[in-house]
Amino acid sequence: MRIPHIFRIGALVLGTTVFYGYVGQMVPQKEVQPPEDAALGPEMTTAEMVKVGRQIMEGKGLCLTCHTIGKTGALRFPDLGGIGARASSRVEGLSDVEYLAQSLYEPTAFVVPGFPPAMPPVNQPPFSLTDQEILSVIASLQTLGGTPTVTLQTTHKYSPGTAAPAPEAPAKGATQLTPDTILQPLVSHQAARLDGAVAR
Ligand code: HEC
Repeated sequence: MRIPHIFRIGALVLGTTVFYGYVGQMVPQKEVQPPEDAALGPEMTTAEMVKVGRQIMEGKGLCLTCHTIGKTGALRFPDLGGIGARASSRVEGLSDVEYLAQSLYEPTAFVVPGFPPAMPPVNQPPFSLTDQEILSVIASLQTLGGTPTVTLQTTHKYSPGTAAPAPEAPAKGATQLTPDTILQPLVSHQAARLDGAVAR
């Protein structure tokens, strides 16, 4: 007996659908979670801020592309080891938190002797760290030789709501900070390393 085409096709479609449906069930179902973003909530403890701050320093803050922690010798950028202890005596009248905030929001206000004023303000592109992220970075910096004291409620000269001075216009002839001028020292640094000229 001849089975009409329409039934054969129907059976094939049904069979295929059931087969793929079955195979689909066997594939382990993986729930896709949004990447666990260390949540910056008002409830965050100082210890959590330290952790988040460290992640930012290694990640989007790009800090460790320039800075080292615990290196000595001929360095192109200041080593951050011990900064938690050093920060309170860097600038007369500035507490450690105030000095660290200044180093991040207005790095050229005090330039570490022996280094070029080559650090960009990290609340601006390409870093664009938020005020809370910067507080976390400060907490993390405090642990380098000191004890973290900041909370998300800590305020400093650059905190939102405090009358922060308008960012200074770059002095005539000063290098305008652009992603290029920021990355350039990195590139030449890398080149110098390849030449073996910089001991690190
Ligand atoms: C493009 C390279 C570069 C990047 C990126 C960078 N810095 Fe810097 N940083 C410098 C340079 C150069 C200095 C020294 C000049 C100065 O004091 O402004 C400095 C100085 C500092 C100081 C002062 C150190 C001291 O001994 O007083 C701190 C603190 C600091 N940086 C933290 C950070 C943190 C945290 C980040 C990331 C959020 C960061 N920097 C990103 C280049 C960089």
